[in-house]
Amino acid sequence: MPDPTPTPQAFRRFAGTPSYLTNDALEAAVNAALALERPLLVKGEPGTGKTLLAEAIAESLGAPLLRWHVKSTTRAQDGLYVYDTVQRLYDSRFGGGDVQDIRKYIKLGPLGHAFKAPARAVLLIDEVDKADLEFPNDLLHELDRMRFQIVETGEEVAARERPVVVITSNNEKELPDAFLRRCVFHFIDFPDPALMERIVAVHHPRLGPDLVRQAISAFFALRQHPRLRKRPSTSELIDWLTVLHAAGLTGVRLDQDLPFLGTLLKKEQDVANLKDVKPQGGAARRGWN
Ligand SMILES: Nc1ncnc2c1ncn2[C@@H]1O[C@H](COP(=O)(O)OP(=O)(O)O)[C@@H](O)[C@H]1O
Ligand SMILES: [Mg+2]
Repeated sequence: MPDPTPTPQAFRRFAGTPSYLTNDALEAAVNAALALERPLLVKGEPGTGKTLLAEAIAESLGAPLLRWHVKSTTRAQDGLYVYDTVQRLYDSRFGGGDVQDIRKYIKLGPLGHAFKAPARAVLLIDEVDKADLEFPNDLLHELDRMRFQIVETGEEVAARERPVVVITSNNEKELPDAFLRRCVFHFIDFPDPALMERIVAVHHPRLGPDLVRQAISAFFALRQHPRLRKRPSTSELIDWLTVLHAAGLTGVRLDQDLPFLGTLLKKEQDVANLKDVKPQGGAARRGWN
């Protein structure tokens, strides 16, 4: 159970890391989830640092991170354990040891590993909205009780210490109310240019300030383009700067062809649209802002 009278110092357990920049609202959400021992649900556009947040929490708590990357076919059961019947059948036909020992064929999933960890772990359930709607509902029971039974062996797997659970969503699907009720929620806004400059500095500490400023302003102008189907994200900006730097460029200009556009735009219509309306001078450039 959480300590009923935590001090403010004990409450503020997360304040970002040297390479993960936060703001007060994000820190408050993380610390609330830690104090309540409830899952933290973070939503936001791709590239807003949701996945990286789980790494940063693990780093700052000194806890191991277990990742569970959700796909369209993922079932809640996969996170607990799977019983490898195919391997058992194979062993029974081709002689692979004692097939009577079913425990050998039970493979724990990320949730199972997090429960079994000797000390508190951080469990990342990444992109929960990729799976079908039943997935989050099916997880509720185990996340609440922090224990489950392996039916085939009768063994109970119970968390020694409740793991810190971070769940991310790109907002592709609505999540069920019963699931939301149990989480602490935070929406990570897309970084503004000032925060973006600090994020870039973390990843590219030695880049020339002119190149960084021009690239960031071109990036935000691109993102505001009304006809863009897929707006570039933070990781694409960071890649773009890596390439610009590697190519020895010291600046970029929006009113000229942007170099290495393929690192920022990933749809041919976007590249074509951009060519159609690329501003040629002062008057036209207003359309970008
Ligand atoms: N707050 C932040 N501090 C430092 N780097 C960040 C931050 N947010 C995003 N980034 C950068 O953006 C990239 C994408 O972050 P990621 O966690 O993969 O985003 P998401 O999971 O939201 O799609 C990271 O690899 C990192 O380079
Ligand atoms: Mg992610």
